[in-house]
Amino acid sequence: MKLTVNGTTHDVDVEEDMPLLWVLRDELNIKGVKYGCGIAQCGACTVHVDGVAVRSCQLAAADVDGEVTTIEGLGTPDSLHAVQAAWVEHQVAQCGYCQSGQIMQAASFLDLNPAPTDDQIDAAMSANLCRCGTYPRIRAAVKTAAQTLNGA
Ligand code: FES
Ligand code: FES
Repeated sequence: MKLTVNGTTHDVDVEEDMPLLWVLRDELNIKGVKYGCGIAQCGACTVHVDGVAVRSCQLAAADVDGEVTTIEGLGTPDSLHAVQAAWVEHQVAQCGYCQSGQIMQAASFLDLNPAPTDDQIDAAMSANLCRCGTYPRIRAAVKTAAQTLNGA
């Protein structure tokens, strides 16, 4: 099958039911996306398909209909996505394991809801589990990213 990830189209030869997460990490060596639970409960494996957050552990690569973006393709070191810049500004990460999924979730959320309330942020982001409890800083960073994206 052909899979376009971060702007590059790859030919991948895998079983049709192999989850996208495995293809990204084990076939394409894209390691920013993480394995947490494997059952669509934690969000560590969140990537975008055509800009929409999906849990790659439960999406068969053969069912991907669109372009995949991982944390590696969200921004560049010279031009961080507003969410990435806000994450740095607020020093959100602790152990870091959940954070690429959190950032991908936040970027997709802000695309859909550019001016969220605190309750909407908490509802959207609490679906991604963080064992380190970084949620207060996640909320602050999402608010900063929203202001940046809205030109405030
Ligand atoms: S690894 Fe996919 S949701 Fe937990
Ligand atoms: S930063 Fe450690 S699990 Fe979220």
